[in-house]
Parts: sequence; structure tokens; C-alpha cells
Amino acid sequence: MRTVLEVADLQVHFETARGPFKAVNGVSFALHSGERLGLIGESGSGKSTIALAIMRLIKPPGYIAGGRILLDGTDLLQLDQEAARTRRLADVAMVTQGAMNALNPVIRVRHQLLDGLEAHGVHLAKNEVDEWLAGLLDSVGLRPEVADLYPHQLSGGMKQRVCIATAISLNPKVIIADEPTSALDVVVQRRVMQTLRKVQEQLRAAVILIGHDMGLMAQFADRVAVMRAGQIVEIDDVRAIFARPQHPYTRLLMESLPSLDQRDSLLRSGPIARPAAEVPTP
Ligand SMILES: Nc1ncnc2c1ncn2[C@@H]1O[C@H](COP(=O)(O)OP(=O)(O)O)[C@@H](O)[C@H]1O
Ligand SMILES: [Mg+2]
Repeated sequence: MRTVLEVADLQVHFETARGPFKAVNGVSFALHSGERLGLIGESGSGKSTIALAIMRLIKPPGYIAGGRILLDGTDLLQLDQEAARTRRLADVAMVTQGAMNALNPVIRVRHQLLDGLEAHGVHLAKNEVDEWLAGLLDSVGLRPEVADLYPHQLSGGMKQRVCIATAISLNPKVIIADEPTSALDVVVQRRVMQTLRKVQEQLRAAVILIGHDMGLMAQFADRVAVMRAGQIVEIDDVRAIFARPQHPYTRLLMESLPSLDQRDSLLRSGPIARPAAEVPTP
């Protein structure tokens, strides 16, 4: 298996009055091409900070205090701002819980999607645009007509699909999904996760899924890393983590699932058929 992303001894600090706070304190892991890694851990354990570091989006008072983030051998931490910007979306893309609310309400979906391309210097010919948009929307289970709608005309699930479409528009090698469905209801969550899984398989992109829903993790992830206080305390195959959690904190997380039977059925159910295209609700 080819390693696409390697994070080595990553340190991210936040400057505080009492000195640096180590939000990420020596995190290392490797991601294989096409692999789905789950990143779990309590709120404040540093999950989103890792995501932002990989995206090169850590802002003051935060700073990267050490480590390497190798994407296909290039250290993202050594790139200047402009090179880092070009790599975002093109190589590593992120979908977040807040992304769907960050869609500009007065810009039609078509322009939201095309703007991302153009920011990366990709200009489609007029006669290619509609076909490209239709293909991209279809891959996230949306009809071509959605291109001409405004975000306020879309349901939460549809908005998050538009965000996934944006994320995959330049065929990234790595997709980071930071609690992408936390703001959605359970049924829509499942469908959006199925869509994410389908597109990552098509693109053969690796995914880091951040969250604390163990049920979603069991169905989605190949491997799971468990974080606590800025460190990975356990990382293993999803089945091994569920069957034999080693770290006391991981065991505690497992206890949030009612029974062993439930863990089993979560692992068995696996991916589900492709969701039907969602139509806009008036
Ligand atoms: N802008 C910031 N300034 C100061 N501390 C921050 C900032 N952003 C995050 N932190 C701290 O870093 C830690 C990790 O946060 P985060 O990565 O968002 O956790 P998670 O995503 O696991 O909930 C938290 O303790 C948080 O308080
Ligand atoms: Mg977070």
C-alpha cells in the first residue's frame, strides 16, 4: 500500500498568557492511498487542530511548533503561503460541520462550484461548464437543476452535498471531513456519509473522518485513531479497536455504545446502496 500522507511528530501550540498551550503534542500517523481513517476523541483533544494544520490553516495565536506533514513526499509545512493555497482543494480538501452554513446565500450553486476551480486557475470552456457541473452534482447525488439554486433553497443535507462537491472538484488525494454531519439529522447523516464514501472510492482519495459518533465510525473507517489531550493514545484497525480497545479512554468511549451485540451489528452492516438523488424541498 502506498503512503499518501505522513504526519510525523506534529506539534501545534496556542500562545496564552501562561505560555504555550500544546493543543497537538507529538502526533504521528500515516495514511495509505484510498484509506479511511477515523479520528475520535473528546471535545478539545486536538482533532480539528490536526485538520487545520494539514490544511495549513492554523491562525495566530496558534502556530506549528514542530513536526512534518508529508503529502506524497512534499513537506506541506515548508511551503510558502501561495504554494500552500494552491495545494488546498487540489491535493487536500476539507468538509466541516460549519461548511454548509458558510455557503454564500446570494451566490448560486453553479458559481460556488466554478469559483473554486477558477481560484486554482482552471477555466472551463462555456460549452463544458454545464456538463462538468452536472457530472459533479450527480456524483454527490444531486440533480443538475441544483446548479441554478441558491443555498437557501436547499435542505441541510443538500447543502452538505454541495460542500462535498466543492471538496472533490479538483480530485484531491486526501479529504478531511471534520464532523461533516453533526448538524444534520440522523437519516440525512447516513445518506451524506454514504455519498462521501462513494466519492472517495471513485476518486481513490484517502479520508480522515473526524467525529465522536462511534456508530458512524464503525461503518465508515478502516482504521481508527483515538486522541486525548493532544496525543494519539491508540491507533488500530477498526475491528480491533471495537473488539479489544487497549487504552482505558478508548474503553470508556466503547462503553458509550449499549452492547457488544450493537458493536457487532454496526461492523457487519457495512456500506449501503447508493442514495437516490435528493430533490429540493420547497
Ligand atoms: N484559536 C484558539 N486559541 C486558543 N486555543 C485554541 C484555539 N483553537 C483551539 N484551541 C485549543 O486547542 C485545543 C484543541 O482544540 P480542537 O482541535 O478544536 O479540539 P477538537 O476538535 O478535538 O474538539 C482545545 O483545548 C482548544 O481550547
Ligand atoms: Mg473539532
